[in-house]
Amino acid sequence: MSESRDFLTLSDFDRKTLDLLLDLATTLKDAWRKGRPEPRLAGKVLGLMFMKPSLRTRISFEVGMRQLGGHALYITDQEVGLGKRESIHDVGNVMSRFLDGIMIRTFAQSQVEELAQHSSIPIINGLTDLVHPCQVFCDLLTTRENGFDLDAIKVVYLGDGNNMVNSWIDAACAYNFEFVFSGPEGYDPDAATLARAKGRRVSIVRSPEEAIRGAQVVYTDTWTSMGQEAEAEKRRKVFPPYQLNAKLLKLADPKAIVLHCLPAHRGEEITDEVMDGPQSVVFDQAENRLHGQKAILAWALGGHGE
Ligand code: CP
Ligand code: NVA
Repeated sequence: MSESRDFLTLSDFDRKTLDLLLDLATTLKDAWRKGRPEPRLAGKVLGLMFMKPSLRTRISFEVGMRQLGGHALYITDQEVGLGKRESIHDVGNVMSRFLDGIMIRTFAQSQVEELAQHSSIPIINGLTDLVHPCQVFCDLLTTRENGFDLDAIKVVYLGDGNNMVNSWIDAACAYNFEFVFSGPEGYDPDAATLARAKGRRVSIVRSPEEAIRGAQVVYTDTWTSMGQEAEAEKRRKVFPPYQLNAKLLKLADPKAIVLHCLPAHRGEEITDEVMDGPQSVVFDQAENRLHGQKAILAWALGGHGE
């Protein structure tokens, strides 16, 4: 494994480091709001490698690097052909000679790990089929900003047991919040991730009504993740009982916030009424990708000031 500061999955991090990064994110957000420059990464270049589409991840990393005085380079797999035109081993070695860090979004977590192994620069995971650690880290920032104590709340996730859920379970292992996943049988979170969470306040509750009761954070995501498009029709038949709608939301804590990593499929996993309702903070959440990831970048690329 390389010695660099990789951000591959939240299960690699203890709460002390996550707290430090969350505090740094708040500092950087505050500075940006006050128009105070924070050129911690002046002259540094981040490569952005995408094997799947993106709006938020691409733009927030690109703008984040700019706000920190650095630069980002967008690279598509059509050029690189990771593992096809060239081995991950060689790509990692070559990119390490040009760049100061790489953010990669791809399918298999093993590809990200292999890239990290063969790179001497930090690798940041911008989503795999298994996890989405940057998103959940930034969601912890949004949760904290809304006045919630990460050791005292109940977080409920309705829908598919996908990469978002796995990273939320990893976060529940670092903090002490209760995490309840509610989805249909056959669509549970990753078994190894669940096994690691044994003894933590993590559970599966099939009834969405029971699961959401008293929750302070209510989360949902697409029923069909990138790469699963062929299953979309089948999934549309299974997931409707887990739709986040006003009737279900009434059972949560009245002060609950609604989160969605986006993109949303309005009328499927979430209704317009909830998405645009007073409890929804989904666009603040999207903005926090920028501020949270600036903290990850500053930490990983060496401008963290430690
Ligand atoms: N939430 C998120 O990662 O969005 P994108 O897929 O648009 O990057
Ligand atoms: N679960 C979704 C998240 C998108 C940000 C996907 O993987 O497509």
